[in-house]
This record gives sequence, structure tokens and C-alpha cells, in this order.
Amino acid sequence: MAITKSVFSLLLFTLIAFSFLFVPHDCTDAKPLKVCKFDAIYNTGDSISDTGNLIRMKTQNPDMPFFRLPYGQTYFKNATGRCSNGLLMIDYIAKSAGIPFLSPFLDRDAVARGHGVNFAVLDATALPMNVLTANSIPLPLHFSSLSEQLDWMSTYFNDTFHNQDDRDEKLKKALFMVGEMGGNDYNFLLLLGKTIEHIRDIVPEVVKTIKDAVTRVIGYGAVRVVVPGNFPIGCLPVYLTKYHTKNSAAYDDFHCLKGLNNLSIYHNDLLKQAIEDLRKENPNAVIVYGDYYNAFQWVYQNAANLGFDACSVQKSCCGAGGAYDFTLGKTCGIPGVPVCSNPDERISWDGIHMTHKANQYMANWIINDILPKLNCKV
Ligand SMILES: *[C@@H]1O[C@H](CO)[C@@H](O)[C@H](O)[C@H]1NC(C)=O
Ligand SMILES: *[C@@H]1O[C@H](CO)[C@@H](O)[C@H](O)[C@H]1NC(C)=O
Ligand SMILES: *[C@@H]1O[C@H](CO)[C@@H](O)[C@H](O)[C@H]1NC(C)=O
Repeated sequence: MAITKSVFSLLLFTLIAFSFLFVPHDCTDAKPLKVCKFDAIYNTGDSISDTGNLIRMKTQNPDMPFFRLPYGQTYFKNATGRCSNGLLMIDYIAKSAGIPFLSPFLDRDAVARGHGVNFAVLDATALPMNVLTANSIPLPLHFSSLSEQLDWMSTYFNDTFHNQDDRDEKLKKALFMVGEMGGNDYNFLLLLGKTIEHIRDIVPEVVKTIKDAVTRVIGYGAVRVVVPGNFPIGCLPVYLTKYHTKNSAAYDDFHCLKGLNNLSIYHNDLLKQAIEDLRKENPNAVIVYGDYYNAFQWVYQNAANLGFDACSVQKSCCGAGGAYDFTLGKTCGIPGVPVCSNPDERISWDGIHMTHKANQYMANWIINDILPKLNCKV
């Protein structure tokens, strides 16, 4: 009897657990953020959220592989400047809020019609590039930084609102996203061959820059701000390839590189502390941490249940072979680099950025996580 009962409760528990896992993700038309009645989203960031700014700066960076197919192949059937085969997390967040996709700031016509503006630029860093590369060979491209995006935002608000009351009224109904930022600061230094120990030294400065950005945005009139952290970068094909080692102690239980994940954890811990400080300094603002680290981990650890190919969780979809389907110097978008047959079965699109499908699951996770914290039903 007792045994039957516990078997029954186990079965019931399993059923509940499974329905919990499956049901929410079938509701792709659900718009949970709608309760917040946001009529605009203003976003700053890098390639994780650029929906078309860098592609409009082509004269400075004419040959980037992101500017052509197969980028965009699944959703837009053309490259839009988004680093994925389809939508980004910011697109899913806009959908969930019931507003159109954010217009890139540099698409003037769209901005004039739109609900919010996207200031993110694909290659942007938190720190100015000259600070980052003070003693190194400068990188060959034009890079933008967070403070330039905030200047754009300031210009935009000055040009758009008639007076202070108008501005306050409108921005009260807007969601601001500051980041993810900092990922490129670390990426560029890692690709320049700096050690993780060296990079740890600049983390406090990167986080301080993000904190100052949030202060500026609140100064512009923001009331609700989400500040995303960094992903577990030790799970990305680009680093799994570059830092591949036979030393099994370098990997965690999910075969991700511990040292690099540790760097993200350090960044995220300092960022959460900075958010605590910001809350004290700005009691009238709602400031929420965007837990991209755990959103990614959740997708990663439930990959098979979510329909990803369990044998390819660490392989990019668009890539030129190797253990992780990623080859430095022969990346997605370069002619001849193949694309996997079903991108929906992969988490990583190009070794650095996620697929349309992975972005959808991560965005859903983030939306569920931030919604109660945004305190919308007041
Ligand atoms: C595809 O995107 C490119 C820019 O990346 C643009 O020049 C071209 O007109 C687009 N084609 C279509 C069919 O929209
Ligand atoms: C926007 O207006 C404010 C207040 O007049 C000013 O301090 C700021 O410099 C302006 N921003 C830009 C980018 O011109
Ligand atoms: C992770 O970082 C902590 C300090 O934050 C350090 O003590 C530890 O050794 C690091 N672990 C690895 C595997 O790098």
C-alpha cells in the first residue's frame, strides 16, 4: 500500500514535472510582459542584441560575415545585422511585451514609426577600446562603446520629446535594457592572448562602467531597467576550440571550461552587487538583474527535453568542422562554411551567438524570471 502510494506520487510528480517543462514552451503566442503595458523598449548592448546598427555602418566595416546569409536565413530569409539565424532575445522580449521589434537607431525611418529604439552595436564594448588595448596591437576595425550608445540615446530623447513632462510621462511606460555588455571586453582581450588572471583585473572597471551607464539612463528618465549579466562563456564553441585541452580538470560536469565560466561568475557577482548599490541610490527606480547565465544553463542542461540534438549541444550549427564545428578564421558567413540541416536542433548558431530556437527558450526563461521583479501590477 505504502509502496503503491509512493509509486503513485512519484508518477504524479513526474507528470507534473513534465507538463511544467513542456506546456509553457508551446505557448509561443503568450505575451506575459503585456501586463506591464510598456509602449517602448530602449536597449543598449552588443551583438547579443544588435538588430541592425552595425550593418548600417558598413563603410567602416565593409566585410563582416554577419552581414550576409546564412545569418537571418530562418526567420527573415535575409541578413538583417542580427547575429543569429533568426530572432534575438530582445526580439522575443518585444514580442512578449506586445510591441513591434525595436528599430535600430541608425534606421531613421523605422525609428520615427517605432515603439522604442535599439542602440546596441554588434562589436560594442563597455570600456572604450583605447582603454582596453592600451598596450596591445589595436584591432583593425572601428569599435563602439557603451558611452557612444548613451550619447545616441540622449540625442534621441532630446530630439523626440517636447518638454520634461512629456519625457517623464513617456519614459515611465518604457522598459530599458542596459546590456548584456562586457562580453566583448573580455572576448577581445582573450583573442589578443591575454590570460584570465589579467582579464580578472579589469572586471571591476567594466562593471563600474555598466553601473555608471545605468545611472545615466535613470538620469534620462528611466524607471524600469533590466541589467543583464554575461553567459557561461566557457560553454561556447569559440572558447572550447581555442582553449581545448587534454587536462580534464579544466572542464566542469557539462564539459564547459571552468576558468572561463568562473570569469563570467565573477563579472555577474560584481554586477549584482552594483545593482544592489544602484537600488539604494535610486529608490524610485526598479532595477532588475537579467540572469543570462542561468537562462543559458537551463537551456543547456535541458537540451534534449527542449528538442535539441543531445549529441551536438557544444557544436555550432554554422561552422567549418572540428570537435565543436567551429574553426577560427573560417567562421559562419565566410563563403564555403556549411550550415547544419536543422538549426532548431542546435543551441549555438555560429560558435559565439545562439540560434533562433535557443534565443527563444532563453528569452522565455528571462521573461518569467524578471516579470515578478519588474513590479508591474501597481
Ligand atoms: C538583403 O539584405 C541586404 C543587406 O544585407 C540588402 O541589400 C538586400 O536588399 C536584401 N534583400 C532582400 C530581398 O530584402
Ligand atoms: C540633451 O539635453 C540636455 C539638457 O539640455 C543636455 O545636457 C545634453 O547634453 C543633451 N544631450 C545631447 C547628446 O546633446
Ligand atoms: C574561480 O575563482 C575563484 C575566485 O573568485 C578562485 O578562487 C578559483 O580558483 C577559481 N576557479 C577556477 C577553476 O578557475
